[in-house]
Amino acid sequence: MAATPDLLVRRLSKADDRSQFRCGDADLDRFFHRYAGQNQFRHHIGTTFVAVRQGAILGFVTVSPGEITADVIEAATRGHLPDYPLPTLRLARLGVDERHHGQGIGRRLLRAVFHSALELRERFGCLGVVVDAKPQAVGFYQGLGFTPLAVVRGQLGDRPEPLPMFLSVRSIETAGAGSVPP
Ligand SMILES: CC(C)(COP(=O)(O)OP(=O)(O)OC[C@H]1O[C@@H](n2cnc3c(N)ncnc32)[C@H](O)[C@@H]1OP(=O)(O)O)[C@@H](O)C(=O)NCCC(=O)NCCS
Repeated sequence: MAATPDLLVRRLSKADDRSQFRCGDADLDRFFHRYAGQNQFRHHIGTTFVAVRQGAILGFVTVSPGEITADVIEAATRGHLPDYPLPTLRLARLGVDERHHGQGIGRRLLRAVFHSALELRERFGCLGVVVDAKPQAVGFYQGLGFTPLAVVRGQLGDRPEPLPMFLSVRSIETAGAGSVPP
């Protein structure tokens, strides 16, 4: 089922009631209930976008600036980048209310992330989006074009979770994935 058009994706506000949200992952729920607000409004170390329908929060995604070195990126994407740390947008947390999985809400939240990555690139520079994907979500990110970062490719057998994945801003732009606001 597709997400209904009345779904709004916007920045978290102080007035939002986060207490009823459940995505099926206790750590992510705890983060959203307890820390998403203070990280955004007090510490200023991450921004959360929420997907809202009829006043209810159905999903959230938290992003913050990050960096990676070019050697962990696939050669085809790497080009002739310098070998010092390069700016990225880090997708730190993502969850969709478990009663609304499979409705396109996660994809819609990623649109907000892609839009932010393009904005970041224009203003300060950004190579792409990085996520430490939980095992159950690797397929979701793959479907959106993310690929594993090279640094862990050889270690998958030893270290099943999480899997660092990457999507270049160039791919986002080519796909037109962040060109419209969320
Ligand atoms: C992973 C999660 C965010 C996906 O959100 P969602 O709203 O259910 O996903 P969508 O409905 O937007 O799905 C978009 C596409 O991804 C696919 N997809 C969704 N979840 C998937 C998964 N776990 N594995 C593989 N594909 C998945 C859908 O089938 C859909 O494909 P389609 O466009 O070809 O039909 C959600 O399942 C969730 O909150 N899980 C628990 C928390 C979690 O694991 N968070 C990620 C932490 S890194």
